[in-house]
Amino acid sequence: MPVITCIEDLKRIYERRVPRMFYDYAESGSYTEQTFRENTSDFADIYLKQRVAIDMTGRSTATQMIGQDVSMPVALAPVGLTGMQSADGEIKAARAAGNFGVPFTLSTMSICSIEDVAENTDKPFWMQVYTLTDDDFMRRLFDRAKDAKCSAAVITVDLQMLGQRHKDLKNGLSAPPKPTLKNIINLSTKWRWGLEMLGTKRRGFGNIIGHAKGVNDPSSLFEWTAKSFDQALDWDRIKEFRKMWDGPLIIKGIIDPRDAVKALDVGADAIIVSNHGGRQLDGALSAIRALPPIMDAVGDKIEVHLDSGIRSGQDVLKAVALGAKGTYIGRAFIYGLGAMGEPGVTKALEVIHKELDISMGLAGRRTIDEIDRDVLMVPKGFSGEWE
Ligand SMILES: Cc1cc2nc3c(=O)[nH]c(=O)nc-3n(C[C@H](O)[C@H](O)[C@H](O)COP(=O)(O)O)c2cc1C
Repeated sequence: MPVITCIEDLKRIYERRVPRMFYDYAESGSYTEQTFRENTSDFADIYLKQRVAIDMTGRSTATQMIGQDVSMPVALAPVGLTGMQSADGEIKAARAAGNFGVPFTLSTMSICSIEDVAENTDKPFWMQVYTLTDDDFMRRLFDRAKDAKCSAAVITVDLQMLGQRHKDLKNGLSAPPKPTLKNIINLSTKWRWGLEMLGTKRRGFGNIIGHAKGVNDPSSLFEWTAKSFDQALDWDRIKEFRKMWDGPLIIKGIIDPRDAVKALDVGADAIIVSNHGGRQLDGALSAIRALPPIMDAVGDKIEVHLDSGIRSGQDVLKAVALGAKGTYIGRAFIYGLGAMGEPGVTKALEVIHKELDISMGLAGRRTIDEIDRDVLMVPKGFSGEWE
């Protein structure tokens, strides 16, 4: 077992073990990937203040997200096709998250279905919901989430249509991969992935195939998806979803303070400041730069979370110090999952937890509640003064 000390170590193993098509699917942003890159690099523009000679014993990273206890302010973000990064990937990731005491969010576009994950885990998880035109499907999705005892719904509002990711088109991304010569050559070097995949029946979009009208195989699925994403989505439609789900509700994909105010009006319990990990509008502001103006607009009225670009506990500390009550990791847990399955996700969480704990201590803070803006040195004009 190699010595893993940081998320980057997991990423290197992940790249070796997982078919190129799925590595590329995760490790890309839309178009020029500017937003994808800046999501991570902008964290480095913020500095932490080192404090000394402060009693650092008895530290704790425990806190709450939407009133639910978490062992640290980090959840697993919804990631489509997680079950293609490692066989039964959603179940493995949900188990690792549950054992670590952090929420797991299941994507609508997952391989393992809601029911599969519920049957094979013992902690409640959160359900991510895409805003689709098919009303029957939407109602049933919320009902299925309720039956599976999901403890929150996360409605993603930043994907009315897909930002283009060049590599997915060039690779002919599909689940499962098509038996082209290029894929066969690449898969022949990924024997561990292949063997595990042969051992599971879960290789299609478990939440959709057999649940959406007329979608019984992968080819009809792609047609259905293309016409189902709702380009006409507006806040009234989001209010209808609010009525379909009476549990805790989180709205994901807010970058503009005006949209944060709208999300508040809908009656959400929290919003996630997110640009979908740089996969949608290329050229949009990084999530960490977008956070301060959103905190100013709604921070005292609604719980604000953040994702996009988090690769370390220091990043979590910075987001929390700017006001986020919680954060999410997408790629950071996918690297762990693809590298080593369930123990790899646990490893990713351990790495981030340890970094957060040590960095908190070195910055003179013992609890999440003690983390305030004074932990940081933020450059003037960090969120920009734009014309
Ligand atoms: C491969 C991949 C698939 C994703 N699929 C979904 C999805 O199905 N639903 C969703 O709301 N967000 C999805 N996202 C966005 C993540 O939930 C999250 O916003 C993003 O990964 C955060 O950025 P990070 O990867 O830098 O942590 C996906 C992200 C990646 C990398």
